[in-house]
Amino acid sequence: MENVSPSERAGAQRYRVLAVEPNERYRTRITLELAGIVPAPASSLDAVMRDIVPGEPVVVVFGPSLAGPDGFNGVQRLARSFHEAGVVLIADVLTLSILQDAMRAGVRDALTIDAGERAIREAIARVGETMAGVAHRTATAGLEPARLGKVFVVFATKGGVGKSVVATNLAVLLATKFPNRVALIDADLQFGDDAVLLGIPPEHTSAEAAAAVENMDTGLMESFLSVHEASTLRVLCAPVEPAAGERITAEEMVGMVRMLRTMYDYAIVDMPPHFDDVVLALLEEADEVLLIASLDTATIPTLRVGIQTLNLLSVAGSKLRLVMNRANARVHLDISDVERALGVAAEFRIPSDIAIPQAVNRGVPVVLDKPRAPSAIALRALADRYAGPDPGQASAVLEVPAEPRKRGWRR
Ligand SMILES: Nc1ncnc2c1ncn2[C@@H]1O[C@H](COP(=O)(O)OP(=O)(O)O)[C@@H](O)[C@H]1O
Ligand SMILES: [Mg+2]
Repeated sequence: MENVSPSERAGAQRYRVLAVEPNERYRTRITLELAGIVPAPASSLDAVMRDIVPGEPVVVVFGPSLAGPDGFNGVQRLARSFHEAGVVLIADVLTLSILQDAMRAGVRDALTIDAGERAIREAIARVGETMAGVAHRTATAGLEPARLGKVFVVFATKGGVGKSVVATNLAVLLATKFPNRVALIDADLQFGDDAVLLGIPPEHTSAEAAAAVENMDTGLMESFLSVHEASTLRVLCAPVEPAAGERITAEEMVGMVRMLRTMYDYAIVDMPPHFDDVVLALLEEADEVLLIASLDTATIPTLRVGIQTLNLLSVAGSKLRLVMNRANARVHLDISDVERALGVAAEFRIPSDIAIPQAVNRGVPVVLDKPRAPSAIALRALADRYAGPDPGQASAVLEVPAEPRKRGWRR
């Protein structure tokens, strides 16, 4: 029997080794010269990929003719399809630029064909052990508890009642308290204006994030977020064109919120002002629903229908918080009349305040623009209610299956 070290023997059981070389001359050379180190190469990457069992660690040796753009595209294709596949490149010559391109493409190790039996064997073993570790972590990831941030949705049964004002100010206050741990999602896909209220250019939007759904992971999601520099708040902006918003599905929207809550301690969602499948899905996902209402007679009927609908959806009760906005505006109704009519207590009251439209015009949230304004004080009280003393308490521990967490939310 061949003399192999214990680690190499253990390795041989932990991963498979495959090889690919489209060029016939190189294929013959590898088969003859590297016999016993590298298996006889397949002639195409597709043939190799058919041979790979998803979830099983494997080292794929790429032959010399693949040390170029075509080969490196193949490396990326392989890595996208199989997390547990690691590539070792055996090149004829290795220049610095080939090496850089190879590493960028995701090649794990690169040697020249005359590096020697021992070096090639060691490189394959090293990569194999790494891939066996990756496969193990992937398999057990579903068992590890993931911290999930809280999801607050800010909802109203009609537009113009102050949803976006409440959502942006609440998000900014939480982000100030918990730097880099708060995200705001502008889910008003038709008329979302959170970026305007925050004075940030919407460089990327949820339309782009939804389009990238197939390749979504937390790193890519992060690249679609805008940063509100003054507070460190991350913002997933609404599409700039309403038509783009129409193409985003409820499944995609919930998928994005689910991913963001694994990345941040708080995800604040600014909702569109009506019931549709996106809204229903987000209401279900929410930990808290802030229902924004204003004190005018026209609002009460829609609000009552809204609360009845929320009740039907089992959203009400412990999840539902009624926020009265512009609570002192020419009082047509007494708040207690509203509460009686709706059967829900108003937990928060935000006064009508000229500082709010002024702040909106400036693109600066009122809590930063005029922290002493009566509306800013009321908004701070609201944020304090949700930002407990220890942000850790805000996170629930849930079990999340590994697959949706790593690879987006759509099969
Ligand atoms: N408490 C308030 N006092 C004065 N103006 C307010 C108040 N709340 C909201 N507004 C004004 O109402 C407008 C609509 O608010 P917004 O949050 O954009 O509504 P929604 O998102 O519900 O459509 C804003 O431009 C803002 O200036
Ligand atoms: Mg709005």
